[in-house]
Amino acid sequence: MDVFKAVKLTESVYWVGVIDWAIRDFHGYSTGRGSTYNAYLILSKKITLIDTVKKPFFEEMMSRISSVIDPSRIEIIISNHSEMDHTGSLPETISAVKPDKIYASPMGSKALSAHFHWEEDPIEVVKTGDSIDLGNMRIEFIETRMLHWPDSMVTYLPEEKILFSQDGFGMHLASTERFDDELPLNILKEEARKYYANILMPFSPLVSALLGNLEKMKLEIDLLCPDHGPVWRSKIDWILGKWGSWAERKPRPKAVVVYDTMWNSTRKMAQAVIEGLTREGISSKLMPLRASHISDIAAEVLEASALIVGSPTINGRIFPSVAECMNYLGGLKPKNLVGAAFGSYGWSGEAVKELNGLLEEMKVELISEELRAVYVPDEGVLEKSVDLGQSVGRRIMEICGGAK
Ligand code: FEO
Repeated sequence: MDVFKAVKLTESVYWVGVIDWAIRDFHGYSTGRGSTYNAYLILSKKITLIDTVKKPFFEEMMSRISSVIDPSRIEIIISNHSEMDHTGSLPETISAVKPDKIYASPMGSKALSAHFHWEEDPIEVVKTGDSIDLGNMRIEFIETRMLHWPDSMVTYLPEEKILFSQDGFGMHLASTERFDDELPLNILKEEARKYYANILMPFSPLVSALLGNLEKMKLEIDLLCPDHGPVWRSKIDWILGKWGSWAERKPRPKAVVVYDTMWNSTRKMAQAVIEGLTREGISSKLMPLRASHISDIAAEVLEASALIVGSPTINGRIFPSVAECMNYLGGLKPKNLVGAAFGSYGWSGEAVKELNGLLEEMKVELISEELRAVYVPDEGVLEKSVDLGQSVGRRIMEICGGAK
């Protein structure tokens, strides 16, 4: 008996992916709502499987495939993206199915070889503009290099107007619902934004270029099928629009204040900074690092115009959690931010200067030179912290053209 059933998306396309209800840490990204690894089965004359799933879920995927056809009937496997959440079970799938052809992009072929060290490379390379005949349908390939790996590509099935977009337009969300319109919009927005921030933000110029290309190509898309999260059918324009605005990073009157603290001195300063921002009418989020995951901070920064960071000095350095956060955010290359640093210290006080240096490396426009408290902030320092929040707030309003 097949325990797991495939989900019919159209007359000839089925979802045969898996649901990872338990995952809470996806290579350092907190996945509070779990995830899915989507694979798709096309019942064309030459039956085709698009992507596979994470290795421990191989049996579940095979069970879903078996609920529709005998898996040995699969003639073609297409690997749109080599990361192991989509290829971990590729070798087992190849052994079980024995397909005639396996396709990947040129960089995909190299990446798969480097992952699996094949004795005999089974991959046939396809490039942008290539298409293959599935008997009664065809499938077209579009490479999307560095979105988000060098190997990434998407595939288009014109007969069904389906774009299989690998990680593109995905989100980490475990659910029994397979379509966008079966899920609440606030959850879609939250998880899509977090996914974009943590996976795509560094590649935003390439996202803008891809969206422009898709428009030029005038692809008709009835279904947008990513490798994570729901299939888009009702909100395709919505998710394309969101990606467009995230890639563009339009300034918004919003600030994120991140801090850690040892004896509550930096916390008090952080709260005063928030007070200043609030007085200027800026929507602000205070994110204590003891209570906020760095991947959630990234999601907030994606839509913010300011990043203000507080750290005590410990052993002449930035506090470790703050350093980790800055290292992570720096790699994500957020653009168009203003910001500042602050913090308390006992006798040396290097953290604020060091933080300013890191913010400058991130091309953040610094609003203040240095705001520090010796041991415990007095009234004067707290007033200066409020002033700092107000100065940043005023600069945000200038950038945003006064729009609240
Ligand atoms: Fe879902 Fe980049 O792997």
